[in-house]
Amino acid sequence: MKIRSIYMALALLLASCARDGQKPLEAVVNEALARAEQQTLLMAEKYAGREGRLPRTWENGEDVSSDSRWWCSGFFPGTLWYVYENTRNPKVLEYARMYTSRVEREKYTTDNHDVGFMLYCSFGNGLRLTGDKAYEEVLLTGARSLATRFKPQVGLIRSWDHNRDKWQYPVIIDNMMNLELLMWAAERSGDKSFREMAVSHADKTLEHHFRPDFSSWHVVSYDTVSGQPHLKQTHQGFSDDSAWSRGQAWGLYGYTCMYRLTGDARYLQHARNIAGFLIGHKNMPADGIPYWDFDSPDIPSTPRDASAAAIMASALVELSGFVEPAEGEKYMAFAEKQVRTLASPEYTAQPGENGDFILLHSTGAYPFSSEVDAPLTYADYYYLEALTRIKQKLQS
Ligand code: GLY
Repeated sequence: MKIRSIYMALALLLASCARDGQKPLEAVVNEALARAEQQTLLMAEKYAGREGRLPRTWENGEDVSSDSRWWCSGFFPGTLWYVYENTRNPKVLEYARMYTSRVEREKYTTDNHDVGFMLYCSFGNGLRLTGDKAYEEVLLTGARSLATRFKPQVGLIRSWDHNRDKWQYPVIIDNMMNLELLMWAAERSGDKSFREMAVSHADKTLEHHFRPDFSSWHVVSYDTVSGQPHLKQTHQGFSDDSAWSRGQAWGLYGYTCMYRLTGDARYLQHARNIAGFLIGHKNMPADGIPYWDFDSPDIPSTPRDASAAAIMASALVELSGFVEPAEGEKYMAFAEKQVRTLASPEYTAQPGENGDFILLHSTGAYPFSSEVDAPLTYADYYYLEALTRIKQKLQS
């Protein structure tokens, strides 16, 4: 273990030094964090007087916002928390608290699965950084709301209630991202049922959501009587059998996180398998930013998805700490490549531009022509998380 740590530290030190004339990674990360602080403060100031509103994207030169009901409502507060973690700027703390409070009512959400996204990125980070006991109540109430969507006869959390004529019990790969809230709730409350639900969800998703090459379907709908899948489809991807990029990134992140929280070697192996699929994919561009779907027939003339890259980079940094040094170095090298690309002028907006979002060129839902080649609040959030994780590794 000790030798592994020394090896990893040495590898990171080398990675942080100028390579092939590149700027040292530490400088890239610090400059990216400084830019993020600047841009995030502009966004926070702009929305301060817009009661209850949260940034969503920016389209045709106009801000597009949402109320807390939209699945992305927790990401801007979460971005502020990561900026605060890195800067300890009291103004950022004030805004982080303010925007976090805008999401509080989602603790009562029972009509969709996005409670984990909404509350754990906002209140979860707030609790981690401040220890504020009031945030615990919000998270516990939210976890109880999310748990109402778990049906024991299926063994999974139901994602959506729409399209009932098509899907009996739809579960999307994104749902893996809600499990951290349940795992936290089990730990905090001592109620093991939260953990049992999370583990059951991860196990059944592992069994039914993945193809032999470790790519994943987007939507798997289950028969409510047999508990077995009756449909495997896409919603935001190119086709039912394609590999929608962000979905692959959610899977990678979800199983890496579940390994951290359970120590279950099956989850680690699965995360490694997904990482192998992504890193080795013939359609993964050399700069590490995936096209919106790995199987789009229009590659290379189709939009990228910076959000998928940011989620993937953050997950790979975490995964690198769970494997043997040589493999960890491979994941870190890929995450570094992604972060360097995202931090470049091609993907990072100039201050005050891009509607005050940090990153350019994400894709929300290509088949619906929605948020295509656009800034997205979750791209910024996971980019900040990736930067924070790299910085912490460089300093350890
Ligand atoms: N969770 C919805 C999405 O990734 O677009």
